[in-house]
Amino acid sequence: MQKITTQFILNQYRSGIKSYSDFTKEVGLWDSEKYVFQKYLEPTDKILDLGCGTGRTTFPLVKLGYKNIVAIDLTPEMIEAAQSLNQYFEMEIDFRIGDATDLEFEALQFDTIIFSFNGLMSIPKQSNRDAALKEINRVLKNGGTFIFTTHDRAREKEFFEFWKTEKEKWDQGTQNPSLYEFGDLVTTSKNESREIFIHIPIEKEITDWLNQHHFEVVETFYRVDRFDEREAVKMKSGECRFWIVKKVG
Ligand SMILES: C[S@@+](CC[C@H](N)C(=O)[O-])C[C@H]1O[C@@H](n2cnc3c(N)ncnc32)[C@H](O)[C@@H]1O
Repeated sequence: MQKITTQFILNQYRSGIKSYSDFTKEVGLWDSEKYVFQKYLEPTDKILDLGCGTGRTTFPLVKLGYKNIVAIDLTPEMIEAAQSLNQYFEMEIDFRIGDATDLEFEALQFDTIIFSFNGLMSIPKQSNRDAALKEINRVLKNGGTFIFTTHDRAREKEFFEFWKTEKEKWDQGTQNPSLYEFGDLVTTSKNESREIFIHIPIEKEITDWLNQHHFEVVETFYRVDRFDEREAVKMKSGECRFWIVKKVG
């Protein structure tokens, strides 16, 4: 069986364009995101919205006064949809096609990079996520901030049995051969029937990974511990862990 490829990821997002556009038009920022962005971003910051999708975080950030922003996404159809939403929101945001694992920017460019709604974990294969984190480190200024979210295997009680069985399969070598690492999951998206790939880590995996790549954790929290998001947010997004980290080398 073929491994999960970038083509799979492009198809997974292509088939969700309308849903992401509606989320951008009708929902925008989550309360948790508003808290994090207003706490950690300065209005003068040069910001990269990585994996911006249809601009769900980009448009409200500009509206809040964070105007020095560039937004990129791997999926060309997401960028087309974001560009057409520029007219809907009467804005002129710079949306570009780009890959987090190979950024077009020179080193030390950005004060803040965001990768919202678990996008970093939708990159298949650890070595590719390593490449993305290296690129994020390269284009961030020293001391710059990187904000992203992940799911958390250790917090998702309804899946404890699933992960226990999954671990046994990996130990025996009988796991789904299209996956790369334990924690990988191919599933259907929340309330939709799209097939999606996502890597679901535990907190320590991410903390260790960030340390290896010269990032220090400034704040991390599990969304539901602090925020009771609107139904429209919960309908579309499962619970997640926020990571606010700082480049230290
Ligand atoms: C779950 S969506 C989130 C979109 C948007 N940030 C939001 O919150 O609505 C994840 C996005 O990450 C993008 N993505 C996945 N891999 C990427 C990569 N290697 N480089 C840039 N974007 C990527 C996908 O195309 C998708 O638009």
